Amino acid sequence: MQIHTTIESLRAARKTAGRVAFVPTMGNLHEGHITLMRQAGEKADAVIASIFVNRLQFGPREDFNSYPRTLAADCEKLEAAGVAHLFAPDEGVMYPEPQHYHVDPAPAQISILEGEFRPGHFRGVATVVLKLLNIVQPDLALFGKKDYQQLMVLRNMVHQLAIPVEVMPGETVRAEDGLALSSRNGYLSPEERAEAPRLYRQLLRICEAVRRGDHDFLKLETEAVAELAAHGWKPDYIAVRRRADLQPPVHADDPLVVLAAAKLGRTRLIDNIEI
Ligand code: PAJ
Repeated sequence: MQIHTTIESLRAARKTAGRVAFVPTMGNLHEGHITLMRQAGEKADAVIASIFVNRLQFGPREDFNSYPRTLAADCEKLEAAGVAHLFAPDEGVMYPEPQHYHVDPAPAQISILEGEFRPGHFRGVATVVLKLLNIVQPDLALFGKKDYQQLMVLRNMVHQLAIPVEVMPGETVRAEDGLALSSRNGYLSPEERAEAPRLYRQLLRICEAVRRGDHDFLKLETEAVAELAAHGWKPDYIAVRRRADLQPPVHADDPLVVLAAAKLGRTRLIDNIEI
């Protein structure tokens, strides 16, 4: 695997790489990321990954400084997964001067769910992903459903700005006990790690109830919030939404997804399941 730290070097490599699939990440790679790399490999001549912890998408009280940076271990995993090129720029390469041009996602998408609790987050994500797409110019870009709203925002950005890339979603990869893999799981104490799968179990419970025909979403959401709070969690939201735009369901046949975010100790976890 070739490691590129400059835009020029990555661009030169991309030119001769054929059909390229791109997987952007912030590093500290786990099996969720690596599954995206493997899927990418099936769809293209070469996989390009990126590792860049993007300051723009972190709030002032969030974990930008403490976000785990594990480049050496990440490179081994990428190499083993058959990734051809890694773009791992320093901040001075991505943001040599303050970034003045930003992508503002649709207000309807950033005022809800993660957008409500993380002001500016999706603006930072959309801006860096557009910049990375302009640098890499891939044919295909892969994003995980683990970050369901991020996937939706980026799909819409690609559509509305006519960016010439195909967006491909990847299913959420979980630990055996159901916990969605996440770089932030490393923040959990052993006790918190044992408690953490409750979030997924509550989502499953709602999913099963809806499938059985219970459409009292507010009751199901409220019960799940109470159950988590009773076990020491601080839920931000648990919400049954339409898959298409993450707004509250209107028609009985709307395809649905249930999404959640909750803090366990100092760690904020998110998860979702398509119903
Ligand atoms: P990061 O959290 O590192 O995730 C990189 C990609 O891996 C994202 O598309 C994310 O949805 C996916 N992913 C994470 N955990 C997963 C899991 N358990 N199963 C499947 N896919 C999973 O998301 C970001 O970085 C950043 O916001 C980024 C898009 C790179 C922009 O900075």
